[in-house]
Amino acid sequence: MKDIYYAEKKLTKALGKMAKNATSPKLKEAFMVHQSQTEDQVAQVEKAFSLLGFPAKAKKCAAMDGLLEEADEHISEYSKGAGLDAALIVGAQKVEHYEIAAYGSMRSFARTLGYEDVAKIFDQIREQESDTDVLLTDLAESVINPKAEAEMEDVEESAKSGSSRSKRGGEDSEAGEDSSSSYSGRGGGKSSGNGDDDIAVSSLTDGNDREGDSETGEAMGY
Ligand SMILES: [Fe+2]
Ligand SMILES: [Fe+2]
Repeated sequence: MKDIYYAEKKLTKALGKMAKNATSPKLKEAFMVHQSQTEDQVAQVEKAFSLLGFPAKAKKCAAMDGLLEEADEHISEYSKGAGLDAALIVGAQKVEHYEIAAYGSMRSFARTLGYEDVAKIFDQIREQESDTDVLLTDLAESVINPKAEAEMEDVEESAKSGSSRSKRGGEDSEAGEDSSSSYSGRGGGKSSGNGDDDIAVSSLTDGNDREGDSETGEAMGY
């Protein structure tokens, strides 16, 4: 629990950076919504600590540090655009899978030990992570890759006439149909999805950083 508590708190900042560096409005919105959900998850993990009668404390999670370091490398290596969006999706899905595994185990342990209320919290969070993973897959298949494909086709079309813009049909523009806009999340997520404004991390996260940092040292620039 200390491990995932550290991971979630760090993620609230990392997701803001991912949102800032995403080009696709839908991907940007997905990161912002999940950032809001993650802030709520921090509170839910704190509730689990409380139910078990322990103070909420964070302990360095080397796995999450590594995953976020990779995501940070992608941001440094790529210019903004469909390529970086694809890389951000890969990085974010690795994070989600880590979380799904962690919460799945924690749920099972809590249930086995008879803490059904705690198990329910972990199961709800695990489901939220899973939904996010599915959404990212959907964005990869319906928005990001077709956009990259469309960009290549535009180059080809400039050399020869024709109109074979999208083989998959429909997703020729990020500003078009909003198939993912119905994704509002369960934690009352934000969904502004526009602009590159800095994203305010909640006072909840700010208030808890000291504890995590004191045990973990320097964060990776998030
Ligand atoms: Fe999470
Ligand atoms: Fe997550």
